[in-house]
Amino acid sequence: MRVPIIAGNWKMNKTLEESVRFVKDLLPLVEPFRNVERVVCPPYIALAGVADALMGSNLKVGAQNLHWEEKGAYTSQISPTMLDGLAEYVIVGHSECREYLHETDDIVNRKVKAALAHGLKPILAVGENLAQNEAGETLSFVSSQVRAGLAGVPAEEMANIVIAYEPIWAIGTGRNASADQANQIIRSAIRDTVEALYGAEVAAALRIQYGGSVKPGNMAEYMSQPDIDGALVGGASLVVSDFVALVEAAARVKGA
Ligand code: 13P
Repeated sequence: MRVPIIAGNWKMNKTLEESVRFVKDLLPLVEPFRNVERVVCPPYIALAGVADALMGSNLKVGAQNLHWEEKGAYTSQISPTMLDGLAEYVIVGHSECREYLHETDDIVNRKVKAALAHGLKPILAVGENLAQNEAGETLSFVSSQVRAGLAGVPAEEMANIVIAYEPIWAIGTGRNASADQANQIIRSAIRDTVEALYGAEVAAALRIQYGGSVKPGNMAEYMSQPDIDGALVGGASLVVSDFVALVEAAARVKGA
């Protein structure tokens, strides 16, 4: 049985003070839903404050990115070592980093491996853009991102990886992929690819999230799909009541 996982990707939102206040408000409301894994991914600057506020709780912390080297002349970058003790998860390969920071599949793969080597759990984000979607290239493109992102990752590390399917055209646009569509792509392009790489058992245990305009109003629909194990959420994760509603929906629908 795959434990559902809801991760809030706050992107470039909330100051340190706002972040700490937010998690203090959120924590008592989501704590009862212990069978759904809940993760907040604040901006780097708020990680230490949030980690401190959540110490000993079951609300987990993720970083939004990392560098693959432990240290060195990489102005502005944050290494996996620096995240030690602050984050359990780290988002890798988000489409905004691929697009605005020009992160290639090779860079994403280095980051996945660096995260694992330092005991961090990557949330590997993949997804096609609108042109690829309209050209019918979704399955082959997403599958190639999965293969590239996981290159050289041994089977025994796969239990520490979550994959997030986020169609770029659905991010922050209010134009979400239908639950059926999302499930089909997740099944064919992600779970089947992982099965081809690692075998049926690893593929069946892999947790895969959907992301892109997930809201309290559509969460139950996504969660009722057999291959969708949670959500990577932007906008709705910035509002305490929405975050709680997402977790409640996952718990209700997945029977967790
Ligand atoms: P929205 O939920 O705001 O569409 O963002 C999705 C996302 O990019 C999460 O990583």
